[in-house]
Amino acid sequence: MSNSKQDTEITDYNIKLQNVSFSYDGNMANKVLSKINCIFENKQFIALVGPSGSGKTTIARLIARFWDTTEGNIYIGGKDIKDIPISKLNELISFVTQDTYLFNCSVKENIRLGNQEATDDEVFQAAKLACCDEFIQTLEDG
Ligand SMILES: Nc1ncnc2c1ncn2[C@@H]1O[C@H](COP(=O)(O)OP(=O)(O)OP(=O)(O)O)[C@@H](O)[C@H]1O
Ligand SMILES: [Mg+2]
Repeated sequence: MSNSKQDTEITDYNIKLQNVSFSYDGNMANKVLSKINCIFENKQFIALVGPSGSGKTTIARLIARFWDTTEGNIYIGGKDIKDIPISKLNELISFVTQDTYLFNCSVKENIRLGNQEATDDEVFQAAKLACCDEFIQTLEDG
């Protein structure tokens, strides 16, 4: 019998890439990843190391579903990430990009993008933890 709660519940956080190939334009002649198999184990601190352009960021983007694999599958806790609701996946993954983007609104609103429900105090606390509070206060409008 199917139980929708069980279907989306994740009990461990191993990330597994199985035969993952990827091309940004969908043309396999231009693939940037070819048959990648690996496991990022639960509670491990893991670095992907390699030459510039070798595909490290691309792997991170695929895990976060900014893009989908062209071939192969990615699993978190044994679940195909395509079967995990995006809202749930967003709760599981924090993505710090290499390139930084700020939206054209206040610093407070930019920080609050990470959690719309955050109180002002929580936003200030987050800024402090990221060691941004000092330079924010030097900005024209604080
Ligand atoms: N949005 C994109 N559209 C098309 N090709 C892309 C895109 N982003 C990256 N690529 C190409 O995919 C390949 C892998 O790039 P990726 O950014 O994943 O490498 P990286 O290992 O993270 O490099 P770096 O160490 O410079 O951050 C490169 O050839 C890159 O030019
Ligand atoms: Mg990169």
